[in-house]
Amino acid sequence: MLVEGNHYRTIWPNKGLSGVTIIDQTFLPFEFKLRQLSTLDEAVEAIKSMRVRGAPLIGVTAAYGIAISLTENQSDESLIAAKKILIESRPTAVNLSWAVNLVYDKLKKEPEVSRVSMAWKLANRLADEDVKINQSIGNFGLKLIKGIKKSRINVLTHCNAGWLATIDHGTALSPIYKAFEDGIDIHVWVDETRPRNQGMNLTAWELGQANIPHTIITDNAGGLLMQRGEVDFVIVGADRVSVDGNVCNKIGTYLKALAAKTHKIPFYVAAPLSSVDLSYHGENNLFDIECRDESEILRVKGMDSLNNLTEVQIGYSSAYNPAFDITPSKYISKIICEKGIYNPGDIGKALK
Ligand code: MRU
Repeated sequence: MLVEGNHYRTIWPNKGLSGVTIIDQTFLPFEFKLRQLSTLDEAVEAIKSMRVRGAPLIGVTAAYGIAISLTENQSDESLIAAKKILIESRPTAVNLSWAVNLVYDKLKKEPEVSRVSMAWKLANRLADEDVKINQSIGNFGLKLIKGIKKSRINVLTHCNAGWLATIDHGTALSPIYKAFEDGIDIHVWVDETRPRNQGMNLTAWELGQANIPHTIITDNAGGLLMQRGEVDFVIVGADRVSVDGNVCNKIGTYLKALAAKTHKIPFYVAAPLSSVDLSYHGENNLFDIECRDESEILRVKGMDSLNNLTEVQIGYSSAYNPAFDITPSKYISKIICEKGIYNPGDIGKALK
């Protein structure tokens, strides 16, 4: 990703393996701030408070969290404790437990003396693989975009499944970056994505850094735009995908899929295969849909007229804040992953 013309990833290891540096997403789009994570507790806090967020990025952050914790203590007890606290830090995106379990399973077989270097290697490898996977998703998604024969293409996206949700390139936004680089005239409708405004704060910010034409809309505007023929396709990311193609993603995704189906607009999901949960089948989920604090609905962050970052109260009743919903496969046109473009019901086959 390019920020003010400089290349960044969302997370990277510090020299001397003293920890990692992240882009602290809680300050965007107001301030671009980096933050050091030097202890396991700091890594857990960064995931919980969404300084880093997005399914692939929290998985890789957790892998670095294990490496950081082993740097202090290489024992089995330390490894088991790190695994537990990291998996519990956010419940819905399967990429988190996928990454932690992968690293844990390899490290527990290693003698203590080689665990630290192996843990850093594994975390770095997951980060590098994420970049390649997202480039591949971008190339496959570009093929779908090239199939739309219009002089200007309007796409609608929800939440943030871009650079900031991954190590680089993004999932749902990766085809959009490729299309723009390819000279396609593309414009993005960005759902603000209440309550945390990942669309307005993060997606719009990163599209702006890349000079991609975009417009922020309220979460309720998509239906009207689809009715008027102003949306050519919808593309979103995923936090967990069932082997038969049901998709759990940011709250509000389902409503967009319903509207897209009614208006015969393609609804695409872009996700790495690490988002497919082998134990998840059918429309009923057994995993937790994260319910976050009501303050995220009742308070809002912004810049005051003196350019001070501030938070204000915007409501006083009690509030209910489920963070994800599930879109049944029948509303999804295609799932784009690193291996290709699949009918939702066939996504499990991509794992073989
Ligand atoms: O709560 P968040 O901001 O972590 O939710 C993020 C999303 O829902 C994304 O769409 C999803 O993780 C896919 S990211 C490539």
